[in-house]
Amino acid sequence: MKMAVLQFDTCNADSPRFERSMREVWNQTLQVIISFVIQNPILTTERLILRRWGESDREPFARMNADPRVMEFFAERLSRQGSDALVDRAEAHFREHGFGPCAAEFRGDRTFIGFIGLSIPSFQTHFTPCVEIGWRLAANYWGQGLATEGARAAVRYGFETLGLQEIDSFTVPANARSRRVMEKLGMTYNPADEFEHPMLPEGHPSGAACAVSVASDGVETLKC
Ligand SMILES: CC(C)(COP(=O)(O)OP(=O)(O)OC[C@H]1O[C@@H](n2cnc3c(N)ncnc32)[C@H](O)[C@@H]1OP(=O)(O)O)[C@@H](O)C(=O)NCCC(=O)NCCS
Repeated sequence: MKMAVLQFDTCNADSPRFERSMREVWNQTLQVIISFVIQNPILTTERLILRRWGESDREPFARMNADPRVMEFFAERLSRQGSDALVDRAEAHFREHGFGPCAAEFRGDRTFIGFIGLSIPSFQTHFTPCVEIGWRLAANYWGQGLATEGARAAVRYGFETLGLQEIDSFTVPANARSRRVMEKLGMTYNPADEFEHPMLPEGHPSGAACAVSVASDGVETLKC
């Protein structure tokens, strides 16, 4: 009895077609993995997705960084180049430390609205090295509890997933909104903890800053 033998080319591991199709499958898989890792939410809350940064975040982030309301307590508003450099530094922080300031996306309409997250300050002062929590949102999203919601999730992530013992935050004393977020997170402020921010120009109204911290056992501590 004659038997037909059919050989599917791709089953032959030595064939060039097999190699090519395997390479294509591998490349596609890699693309899926990369896009999953890059856009993979690090944290989700009721209203927010906190995730790695994408190219499409750069333009709305630059708009925020040029907004005088958003930058009221900073040394200066940022150019597009300066804003992009901040995105690059955030992504470099993720690559180096495995965590960083997350791009914040509003779940309702999937809009990029700013950043919330943990980072290691690059300057030195009496309470560094430390892990800081920070936030910056587009002005039309203020006053809805979003910064606090995202920051709560980031603090929990810092303690429970990263195993941190303490998280610090600092702001200029006049930044009442930011201080209120810190208060709502359970952080405390002591005027004695004010410090001169080494990266702000001397004499700038933002030059003095206060630091607050929260410990993993839930007891507020002051590190300074
Ligand atoms: C700071 C910032 C992230 C807060 O975002 P947000 O989503 O509005 O914060 P929340 O809604 O969670 O909380 C803000 C709190 O400040 C309060 N607040 C608003 N304006 C205030 C003011 N002028 N004085 C005192 N409290 C004020 C709000 O009422 C709210 O408190 P409540 O929930 O008890 O009512 C946002 O204002 C921002 O991006 N600012 C510019 C960037 C910045 O300064 N970042 C911090 C640098 S340290």
